[in-house]
This record gives sequence, structure tokens and C-alpha cells, in this order.
Amino acid sequence: MSQVPEHLRTGLPLVDHEHQALLDLLQRTRAVCPDRAARDCHACPAERSRHCFAAFERVLNESINYMLGHFAHEERLMDQGVPKAHVAAHQAAHAEIANAVLRTTTYLDNDNTAATSRQLAQVFEDWLFRHIEEHDLELARHLHDKAGPGTGT
Ligand SMILES: [Fe+2]
Ligand SMILES: [Fe+2]
Repeated sequence: MSQVPEHLRTGLPLVDHEHQALLDLLQRTRAVCPDRAARDCHACPAERSRHCFAAFERVLNESINYMLGHFAHEERLMDQGVPKAHVAAHQAAHAEIANAVLRTTTYLDNDNTAATSRQLAQVFEDWLFRHIEEHDLELARHLHDKAGPGTGT
């Protein structure tokens, strides 16, 4: 399993722990269909397609639950005097990601696990490597600034 890169660590233990768990879910999502070139599941035997679909459903449900819990944890941290402009932009970004993930569930069926799992992995990847940089690191800076130097938050 790969690690969240150093420059994307927030220094907030719970947040960093959850980002790592989300990265692990991304790796599992990518592993659902090992054939990167497959456009759909027609080339695979029906038994194999059913197996992939079940694996994808499991990782998708887990990802959605974990992601929503993670957003709630971050949004609770925003109650600690973080500027309103940051809170509004950060919450809007969470809602956008949640919608993008939920949209991938619209096309779920046995025959397109290959494409849908890749699409979910893409949403996750964009989020992990862009949202953290644009929003989560800024949240961490606000919280560290409030805590003051040397408090180790
Ligand atoms: Fe966030
Ligand atoms: Fe986050």
C-alpha cells in the first residue's frame, strides 16, 4: 500500500489517519478490475463479472461511508474558530466530491464494473491529491495558527 505523500500531511493525526485509509480504499478500488484497457466487462466470463461487481459494491459502500464520516470529522474541526470563508468553500468542495462519488453509483451494473470502478478511482485520486492540497492543508494552517506556536496541534 502506498502512503500519503509527505507534502500532503496536515499534522492533524485523525485527518492524516483517515486520508491514509481513503488512499487504501483507492488502491482497493483500482484493484477491482486489473485489466486497465477493458472498456466493459463483456470479455470476462459471467462468473468473473459477478465476482468483480460484488467486490466493487463492497469497496464502494465502504468508501462512501468512510468518506462521509471523514467530511463530518473535518467539518467538526471547522467549528474551532476557522474563518467563515474557508468553512463555506471547504464544505462546498466536500459536497461536490460526495455528489461525484454518488453519481458513479448511477451506472452500476454487472457489465460495467470495469468502467465504473475506474471512474470512482479517478474521483478519489483527484480528491486525494487536489482537495487535500487546496482545502485540508489550509484548514490545518488555520487550526495551527489558532493553537499558537509550540502547542503541537
Ligand atoms: Fe476536506
Ligand atoms: Fe480530508
